[in-house]
Amino acid sequence: EKGGWDSFMNKEIHEDPAAVGNTLLGRFNTSGDIVLDEVRIDEDVFRSIDKIIVVACGTASYAGLVAKYAIEHWVRIPVEVELAHEFRYRDPILTPRTLVVAISQSGETMDTLMALRHAREQGSRVLAICNTQGASIPRESDAVLYTHAGPEIAVASTKAFVAQITAAYLLGLYLAQVKGTMYRDEIHQILDQLKAMPEKIEWVLQTQSDSVHEAAKRMIDAHSFLFLGRHVGYPVALEGALKLKEIAYTFTEGFAAGELKHGPIALVDEGEPVVVIVPSARGRDSLHNKVISGIEEVKARGAFTIVVAEEGDPDAERYADVVLWRPVCPTLLSPLVDVVPLQLFAMDMAMLKGYDVDKPRNLAKSVTVE
Ligand code: M6R
Repeated sequence: EKGGWDSFMNKEIHEDPAAVGNTLLGRFNTSGDIVLDEVRIDEDVFRSIDKIIVVACGTASYAGLVAKYAIEHWVRIPVEVELAHEFRYRDPILTPRTLVVAISQSGETMDTLMALRHAREQGSRVLAICNTQGASIPRESDAVLYTHAGPEIAVASTKAFVAQITAAYLLGLYLAQVKGTMYRDEIHQILDQLKAMPEKIEWVLQTQSDSVHEAAKRMIDAHSFLFLGRHVGYPVALEGALKLKEIAYTFTEGFAAGELKHGPIALVDEGEPVVVIVPSARGRDSLHNKVISGIEEVKARGAFTIVVAEEGDPDAERYADVVLWRPVCPTLLSPLVDVVPLQLFAMDMAMLKGYDVDKPRNLAKSVTVE
C-alpha cells in the first residue's frame, strides 16, 4: 500500500502536488468563478460575515495562520487564529456574523470538535476544512470544504497541510468574490497562479532533495534548530520546526524573524543550525532585506544557515551554507512550496537517525481526547 515508497511519509510528501491540484478540482464554473457546491451556507450569510476565527491544533493551526495573511489581504475582514484547546476557555466574542473555520485533517480532533460545538452554541456558523469524509467535525459543522489530499497515514502531517492551505485560499477568494472586495479579473489571476502551484511543488521535489539531504547529513549531530520566517514565512517556520521535533526528536523553535533581536539571538552560537525562509525580493523589498540582515546577524555569530529563497536570489546565496530554492511565485502562495523542503528535511533527519518516520514515539494520528 506504500506503492513502492520506503515510508508513507515519503509517499505523502510526493503527493503534495496532487493534494493541491485535487483540492482545486471541480470548484469552478465554466466562467472560472468559484462555486463551492458542497458548502451549504447562503451567499447572503457569507456576505454578512464580518470576522473569521480559525480553530485548529498543530499543523492545521499553521495552515490557519497562512489563511489569516491571505484572507485579511483579500477580504479585508479580521481573521483570528486560535488553538482549539484555548478557544472556548476564554469566552471568545462570537456573533451570528462570525464565521468559525475548523481545520482538521482527521476530523476527529476532540479539542477542535469541542471548540466548534461552543461556537455553534453561541450562534456562530462553522465551516470545516477537513480531509476525512463524514468524520465528526464535518458532521457537526454548518458547512464543509473537503480537502482532497487522500488518506494520510503517516502521523506527521504533510500533504494534508498543503491541501488545507489550498482550501483556505479558495475560501478567501470565494469570500472576496461574494463580498466584492476584489475585481473579478484579479481573483481569476490569483486562481491561475494557484492552479500553477502543483507544478512548482513538483519542481522542488525533483530538484531540491539533494540539497536537503546534504543539509541533513551535515546537521545530523545538532541538538537544536531555530526556524525563522516573516509574513507567510512565519507559519512555514513554525511548521518546519514542528515536523523536525515530531519525527527527529530534536529541540526546535520556530519564530517570527523580527523577534530575533528580542531574545532568540541569545541562543545562536558556533555551529547552531538556523533555517530561514526568505521572502521574494520582488515587491516587498523591505521585508526581504530585513530577513537577509537577520541571516547576516546569525551568520556573524557562527550559525550554520539553511536558507529557503527564491531561485537566483543573490543575497540569500551570500549568507547561506545550504540554499533550498523556491520557484518564482506570488508571496501569499509561497507557503505551498516553501514547506516542502522542510518536510523532506525532517524526514531525512529522522531516517539518518534510524527512526520510524511514520510512527513517531508518543504521538497518535488523531488526538481524540481533550
Ligand atoms: O487531524 P487534525 O488535523 O485535527 O490534527 C491536528 C494535529 O493533531 C496534527 O496536525 C498534529 O500536529 C500532527 N502530528 C502534525 O504533524
